[in-house]
Amino acid sequence: MMPALRLGFLAFGILGAVQAQVAVSPSKPSPPASTTSFPKQVIGQTPNSLFLENIAVRASSELLLTSVASSTIFTFNPTTINGTFDPIYTFPNANGLTGIAEYRPGVFAVVASILDLTTRRWAPGSIVIWTIDFNMPTPTVRALAALESAEGANGITTLPGHPDTLLVADSVAGAVWQVDGRTGKSRVAIQDASMLPGAPTPALGINGLHIRDAHLYFVNSQRQIFARVPLAVKGGNITAAGVVETLAAVEPVGENPDDFALDCEGRAWVAVHPGALALFSPPASGRGNWTQVTTAGNDNGTDTGFIQPTSAAFGRGSEIQEKMLYVTTGAGQVVAVDTSG
Ligand SMILES: *[C@@H]1O[C@H](CO)[C@@H](O)[C@H](O)[C@H]1NC(C)=O
Ligand SMILES: *[C@@H]1O[C@H](CO)[C@@H](O)[C@H](O)[C@H]1NC(C)=O
Ligand SMILES: *[C@@H]1O[C@H](CO)[C@@H](O)[C@H](O)[C@H]1NC(C)=O
Ligand SMILES: *[C@@H]1O[C@H](CO)[C@@H](O)[C@H](O)[C@H]1NC(C)=O
Repeated sequence: MMPALRLGFLAFGILGAVQAQVAVSPSKPSPPASTTSFPKQVIGQTPNSLFLENIAVRASSELLLTSVASSTIFTFNPTTINGTFDPIYTFPNANGLTGIAEYRPGVFAVVASILDLTTRRWAPGSIVIWTIDFNMPTPTVRALAALESAEGANGITTLPGHPDTLLVADSVAGAVWQVDGRTGKSRVAIQDASMLPGAPTPALGINGLHIRDAHLYFVNSQRQIFARVPLAVKGGNITAAGVVETLAAVEPVGENPDDFALDCEGRAWVAVHPGALALFSPPASGRGNWTQVTTAGNDNGTDTGFIQPTSAAFGRGSEIQEKMLYVTTGAGQVVAVDTSG
């Protein structure tokens, strides 16, 4: 198990950064991002440092956690320090889980698949979107959709106001899949060069994705960008209503953005490999590039309390929780970042 876990760590984290850094001339290091540190605390550590990939927060405050190195979904209570990672369900025909999102109150969609963590590629035909319903005495699980022709399935999100509409990032094909949360029908909603991984391969393109104000915000891990595209809904089908706009090139060169959380001010808190939480804010004028500030960890990945951050989500259940940002890491940490300051 351990070699596989180590490879997984490399596959989804360090490898991309190392590869990207090859292109950087050592004589011309790019400037570090500016820093404003927020208080943070490691509140959980998985046994055997199981890689944590993604996070969703239940109305009860509890966290639901996925790992690319396990087909088991775990729950963790963030209101306790060093709580336990309790297994909820182990998905069949899968060796790892990627995105998770709540698409109806108490009902979550989870991406399960067979992942090769060395090549960072998905076994053809292995991607299944499952739902897990907590509105029952015991959580009820069912397979919603098999994405037969998807090449990868990473982040997953919902379209506000359209409870049964799920969007899934295909990090290999450079596409966004739309999945109907009732029927399981799926289609490619958007496919764009800005979502493809570039050379060198293997690498991941579009990764985290979230929607606000009729725009799909996303990162491309290998191209190291934070971007958005306006959306239109026609007869239930989601399409791009304009061109993709790059909002920021992630600094410094060689850093790989992963999943992120949007806050109520429209800013994005992005997990960036190898060790930073970057806050992207829109310019006051509303036009031009977004600014980037490091709010936790650092650009060089030397903060042992913030190793290979993979995703972020705000707490729920109280005003204090809503300002608390929970970050998962490739080293199996759950880090609480207090954004109230
Ligand atoms: C939590 O666990 C870490 C080790 O994983 C330990 O260093 C820390 O002291 C623990 N915190 C508390 C409050 O028990
Ligand atoms: C929605 O998309 C599907 C497949 O992509 C297509 O068959 C269908 O005609 C579309 N519906 C509308 C209303 O555009
Ligand atoms: C905005 O970002 C792009 C990269 O996404 C860069 O090429 C351009 O120089 C930036 N513009 C300014 C004014 O910084
Ligand atoms: C890593 O970054 C921190 C903060 O930016 C800095 O203090 C430290 O010297 C850096 N370490 C290395 C090894 O570059």
